Amino acid sequence: MEDLAREARQEKVESQEETTEALLEEGRVFRPLPQLVVDANLNPNDYEDAMKSGRSDLEAFWEEAARELDWFKKWHTVLDRTDAPFFKWFTGGRTNIAHNALDRHVKTHRKNKVAIIYESESGARERMTYYELYRAANKFANVLRSLDIKKGDRVAIYLPNIPEIAVVMLGCAKIGAVHSVVYAGFSALALRERINHAEAKLVVTVDGFHRNGKVIKLKEVVDEAMTASPTVETVVVVQRAGVDIDMSDGRYLWFHDLMDGEPARFETVEMDANDPLYILYTSGTTGKPKGVVHCHGGYMVGINRTLKWVFDIKETDIFWCAADPGWVTGHSYIVYGPLIAGTTTVMYEGHPLFPGPDRMWQIIEKYGINILYTAPTTIRMLMRFGAQHPKKHDLSTLRLLGTVGEPINPEVWVWYYENIGNENCPVMDTWWQTETGMFMVTPTPCNVLKPGSAFKSFPGVHVDVVDAHGEPVEPGKGGHVVVKEPWPAMLTTLYKDPEKYKEVYWSKIPGMYLAGDIATKDRDGYLWFQGRSDDVLKIAGHRVGTAEVESAVVGHKHVAEAACIGVPDKIRGEVAKIFVILKEGVEEDEDTLVNELKDRVRKVLGPIVVIRGITFQDKLPKTRSGKIMRRVLKARELGLKEGDLSTLED
Ligand code: WTA
Repeated sequence: MEDLAREARQEKVESQEETTEALLEEGRVFRPLPQLVVDANLNPNDYEDAMKSGRSDLEAFWEEAARELDWFKKWHTVLDRTDAPFFKWFTGGRTNIAHNALDRHVKTHRKNKVAIIYESESGARERMTYYELYRAANKFANVLRSLDIKKGDRVAIYLPNIPEIAVVMLGCAKIGAVHSVVYAGFSALALRERINHAEAKLVVTVDGFHRNGKVIKLKEVVDEAMTASPTVETVVVVQRAGVDIDMSDGRYLWFHDLMDGEPARFETVEMDANDPLYILYTSGTTGKPKGVVHCHGGYMVGINRTLKWVFDIKETDIFWCAADPGWVTGHSYIVYGPLIAGTTTVMYEGHPLFPGPDRMWQIIEKYGINILYTAPTTIRMLMRFGAQHPKKHDLSTLRLLGTVGEPINPEVWVWYYENIGNENCPVMDTWWQTETGMFMVTPTPCNVLKPGSAFKSFPGVHVDVVDAHGEPVEPGKGGHVVVKEPWPAMLTTLYKDPEKYKEVYWSKIPGMYLAGDIATKDRDGYLWFQGRSDDVLKIAGHRVGTAEVESAVVGHKHVAEAACIGVPDKIRGEVAKIFVILKEGVEEDEDTLVNELKDRVRKVLGPIVVIRGITFQDKLPKTRSGKIMRRVLKARELGLKEGDLSTLED
């Protein structure tokens, strides 16, 4: 690990070397805008108090945040550390996240307010009020009951960014079933692996959806997965694209038929604060995805407080988190967070470049969106087409901007700030993970910003940069990103693998949660994230384990060994490069093999893995114990020093 820290990219963004004051003089930091701070949910004075209280009394700080939400029964203990690192928040408390996202709103003036604005790729728009969404979620909870789904049963959701995904997630939450959303870009094999690991009884999917002008027939992918998914009793199919599909298998049922037959009343099940809400599989350093588990109580408290303070969410806002509900960003900040906050959340089905590079700006204008939250990779892609596209549209409704998923280059930050925000919207660069559930390192609108830095820990969150022994590093030095205290939206375990939860996150630097990222801290305490320290790639913001790619490649009949590394890419941040050792006596030509291997990765994992190159070698650099040294391959590829190679075999 020391090696990794040492290896962290040392060249720093220039501004890290200077103090905020010096930068301010040069106009390279961004002060809070007075009009934003005046009526903000968190103003600068309160910010200081919140930071103090989060430091001096973590539990009181989060307890205050929990009081903002509804509980059927109050907790007796805010934070139970007895079984650390299996921390428990709000023990004794009874609640349900869906009650907070829907039921409590329909008793207020929000009943007829728009909860979801949906735009399809072809431009059709739909709106759902809180009351309509509430009724739909109730019906779906009744559907689940009729299909014999009980509290604790797992439901796999393989749906794109359409309103039904919110209905299904909330319906599951209402009945206490555990949802496992699988991103609609994953392949049949990846879907099957996740269904089988969770032993899902039910799968919910769609006939098809639109992406970049094409219809993606998602149900066909499920058919393939179903050939070996023994635990699945029923597949519920939403009708959206209207494509011809085969429903003859007795396990398949139409969503609309089932919904039609159910009443719109349902008594939301009371859940324990620490009962699981969902599993979300994410890539780690092994060939198998990890099932990150989040629970009802602490999770809802964490996402509500962060959304309210960071994006200053007001009821009158129209909030667009342009992610996909298949990732944690969509779980926390498309579905649950905005609905708990009682605001309007926007869902767009399609591709940002369809039919042209101004689609996103058109959507902002059309709905008068106030807050846009997206990924650096999307901004980089749109930036390439030039500022004339946003200029064609009235973006003056925007008040705040945000980014997530990977480090944002300062020049991209500034482009976003100038051309999308018209220098009126601070950029909230939020650092967090599937595991953290909520923003961890992030500014709020009342902080002074430096482009390229995600600022500091959110109040009540204790992220730091340390060396391999857990000691703080000097300003400007690379180190491991850790969290020193529990936080409410934290993962509670890895599904079916509590040992691995302990080992992966809590054992390498004892007493601290190890995030797997490298960062530096400057003299003002601002954090500058530099990327992952482990074998995880971030391709267009999507998390992909190098071991998963390697195991897909090794599955090809001619491959003896493979090593995958990430190489920089201007738009996607990072893409995969693969080194392959073939078995003896393979005669096929290299071009054919390259194509077959690319197809294989697509088949096993899906199109999210973008491959820059596949090269064939006679050997791979290894340690004496036989572990492939990917960092050596990477250093060679990037023309950097190979570092300490003393453990290398030859
Ligand atoms: C990276 C996404 C720099 C980081 C919510 C982290 C970031 C991983 C940022 C988690 C950011 C996320 N700046 N890096 N603002 N946000 N990351 O689980 O490497 O898909 O560990 O969650 O994304 O990815 P995940």
